Amino acid sequence: MLTSPTPGDPPATPGRALLTAPPAAGPDRRWWRDAVVYQVYLRSFQDSDGDGVGDLAGVRTRLPYLKRLGVDGIWLNPFYASPQHDHGYDVADHCAVDPLFGSLDDFDLLAEDCRLLGLRLILDVVPNHCSREHPWFRAALRAAPGSPERALFHFADGRGEGGELPPNNWRAMFGGPAWTRIREADGSPGQWYLHLFTPEQPDLNWRRPEVAAEFERILRFWLDRGADGFRIDVAAGLFKHPELPDSPDPEADERTRDSVNPLAWNQPEVHGIWRRWRAVCEEYTARDGRQRLLVGEASVPTAAEQAAYLRPDELHQAFFFHLLHAPWDAAHWHRVVDDAVRDIAATGSTVTWVLNNHDQVRTTTRFGADDPLTGAARARAAALLMLALPGAAYLYQGEELGLPEVEDLPDEALTDPIYHRTGNRTGIRDGCRIPMPWSGQEPPFGFAPEGAKQPWLPQPTHFAAHTAERALADTGSAWHLYREALHLRRVLPQLGEGTLRWIDTPPGVLAFVRGDGLICAVNFGDEPALAPVDGEPLLASGPCPPCTLPAATAAWWIAGNAKL
Ligand code: NOJ
Repeated sequence: MLTSPTPGDPPATPGRALLTAPPAAGPDRRWWRDAVVYQVYLRSFQDSDGDGVGDLAGVRTRLPYLKRLGVDGIWLNPFYASPQHDHGYDVADHCAVDPLFGSLDDFDLLAEDCRLLGLRLILDVVPNHCSREHPWFRAALRAAPGSPERALFHFADGRGEGGELPPNNWRAMFGGPAWTRIREADGSPGQWYLHLFTPEQPDLNWRRPEVAAEFERILRFWLDRGADGFRIDVAAGLFKHPELPDSPDPEADERTRDSVNPLAWNQPEVHGIWRRWRAVCEEYTARDGRQRLLVGEASVPTAAEQAAYLRPDELHQAFFFHLLHAPWDAAHWHRVVDDAVRDIAATGSTVTWVLNNHDQVRTTTRFGADDPLTGAARARAAALLMLALPGAAYLYQGEELGLPEVEDLPDEALTDPIYHRTGNRTGIRDGCRIPMPWSGQEPPFGFAPEGAKQPWLPQPTHFAAHTAERALADTGSAWHLYREALHLRRVLPQLGEGTLRWIDTPPGVLAFVRGDGLICAVNFGDEPALAPVDGEPLLASGPCPPCTLPAATAAWWIAGNAKL
């Protein structure tokens, strides 16, 4: 049964297939094009040694859980030697494992287990900045202004008579000026260095060839140890405008918490680096046949701008973040999906959808409209929608358990540098990073062994309702929904890569056909709508009575050769 088009609908384009490129088949087909990758936020996944922080050995013990869920691989957040000012995104040694997370041997064992289980292993590489404890930065502090050591960073003299003002007016994304003044070796007030995040994360100067050479060494180090690819932190960063001029809107990054200062991000020179990295990956792939992936956190304002990062000799994929900021609104989602499919799929890459990650409020709360049940229903519906879209998807640990954001952490428990730099709780990220609840009735819910230290962030007692143990035992849980959706993605040729064609729907409902007849419909409204197809759905995010698509519900149907 078809609902009739109604004035005010999002502009449906029935009959027009939005993605027409036939998916590549055979040995040339790249595994990531429609993969579902699970983000392991290491600190909060599984603590094996009882120090209250998750670790590599802990991840190993949970790989069977991830295999059972049906993901294709994992992305591990940074585990390198780091003072942890930004939870590992301040790297002091890119080729060492921080003792907090284990050892290189633990990494090797994890890589081997992933390989045996057929799970791809994606590491996080952080090239825009390093730690203040990095030997290069320490050497730069000891060296004189104008020295080769300083040239690896952005050191500059201050403005004002005594150099007491920062070299330009840029503000850091995590609050405060983007420059910090140092003391020279003789104790006198000295030069300033640039940091687009925190002062503990000095930005590297990618105009120096030593920086590119060092990162190539780092990539090879991890590729040799079994990495299947890299998630690239701040992939629109690295290069800054060569003259570091004042910005007409210096607070833009701080205000939006996004990389929008056009002088600090998205400079054309960065593409040369991605071409080089791509060549390294292809070299490894050609050598042993194992396909290596580069997926960029290339946060640029539009899908069209992101497409530039996905040219055939640059990154294989880039996270498409627009769903992270999308309100619960059918017309908005329609537009976002259209833009992504048009601009990104046209590059020959596939869209890499993301609904949750370690920097964002979890969907259950984001879509919640202050009502946890509504939030949970919408989050499930959004997941089913995302998993029906053409391309790849990244899941963030705990979304398969329907975890809510923890919004009432006491101030003294907060660890996010954004909070400590701004004194403001808006946009802080601790609430989505709470350690996983695996089992039992009380903290640490199986996150840590008996007698362990308190988890690094406190788990609320209501996490008892969200443990993996409970979710697995309840066939109506979000976990089973994700598992079934991932299973169907594997067995149904209509899912994953391929065409998407919108079908006419009443306002507040989105529906599209994949391939020759998988239909996905989502009701964004608060009232039940007529389902676009008669009969039992193949999968639904909530109860679906005959012919009905309840509020905040998504469903998939198969309708052979759907000419809807
Ligand atoms: C993006 C990462 O996702 C975030 O967690 C980190 O703080 C910044 N990049 C800086 O590295």
